[in-house]
Amino acid sequence: MPEYQSLYRKYRSQTFADLVGQDAASRALQGALIGGRVSHAYLFSGSRGTGKTSAARLLAKALNCSGRKRDTAEPCNKCQSCLEMTAGSALDLIEIDAASNRGIDEIRDLREKVNLAPALGPFKIYIIDEAHMLTEPAFNALLKTLEEPPAHVVFVLCTTDAQKIPLTVIGRCQQFVFRRHSEDQIVARLTHIALAEEVSVDAEAMQLIARTAQGSMRDAVGLLDQLVPLAAGPISLEAARSLLGIADPRLLDTLLDNVFRGSWSRPRLRDSRSRSELLKSRKRPPRQSQPPRLPALPLGPPRRKRGRTPPRTAGR
Ligand SMILES: Nc1ncnc2c1ncn2[C@@H]1O[C@H](COP(=O)(O)OP(=O)(O)OP(=O)(O)O)[C@@H](O)[C@H]1O
Ligand SMILES: [Mg+2]
Ligand SMILES: [Zn+2]
Repeated sequence: MPEYQSLYRKYRSQTFADLVGQDAASRALQGALIGGRVSHAYLFSGSRGTGKTSAARLLAKALNCSGRKRDTAEPCNKCQSCLEMTAGSALDLIEIDAASNRGIDEIRDLREKVNLAPALGPFKIYIIDEAHMLTEPAFNALLKTLEEPPAHVVFVLCTTDAQKIPLTVIGRCQQFVFRRHSEDQIVARLTHIALAEEVSVDAEAMQLIARTAQGSMRDAVGLLDQLVPLAAGPISLEAARSLLGIADPRLLDTLLDNVFRGSWSRPRLRDSRSRSELLKSRKRPPRQSQPPRLPALPLGPPRRKRGRTPPRTAGR
């Protein structure tokens, strides 16, 4: 039986054109590739599941692609190097998970191997994922190599927590911030994947997934992946809600709005259990007919108080 590949891995961007959003990073990397001005060290930071590792692999692929035309940054995805990189077997692409290789020994090991020539293409690309997890001595050991790596080496540090990266490291890298995706971007991507996978998903179900994913494309595609085998036939909003066990965020919004307004009378919830719970809890806090009065802020010129010097600012 062939191994099932999760949708988010199957639909990892293999060209810059297929990388959703992240325009600044994408344009800058493509410009550098076309102009032959690729930096020796990059730092990709930002929310999880927004394309940092994908972009790092794309950069690696384009750098070592033997079929890439001079006027484009797009890898050919056909040459031996491209095929090996897609399959994850390329010797010139070294991915280090800093979460499990955090110490100085691993970085010393890296420093020794960095000088060895690449196996196939002109470059060796080191992707250090979760780079913020490196220990301080490990960062220190990396600094020298990061500053002046051999000409055939490019580092890409990826992190969801740039604040934990020492400034000395940031200063040696070109940094790009990867932004969360908008709901529209996620819906468009899900639509593309659903079409390719020949599954039918209601527009509202897409919206729910997009909203639940909170800007993470990986989470969105992962949720779709969960739904496909569970739903027999088209995926409806109700199916998406119940299968994913997610309360409709709009329902929660309405609930919160009502809480803040202090209006408990008509929570407008379709779920009768929630309503009865709400009505029960309504008895506990004494209902305030009027919101508490705040002291009025003085308007116009400050009033003089008898026997005192006038206040300097009007708002005091
Ligand atoms: N910009 C994007 N365009 C298209 N698909 C994306 C994008 N970002 C993420 N994805 C989807 O999410 C998956 C994971 O993306 P990736 O590994 O690049 O995210 P990441 O930013 O490195 O996340 P993490 O911070 O968790 O490591 C991809 O395989 C792809 O399916
Ligand atoms: Mg990653
Ligand atoms: Zn190629």
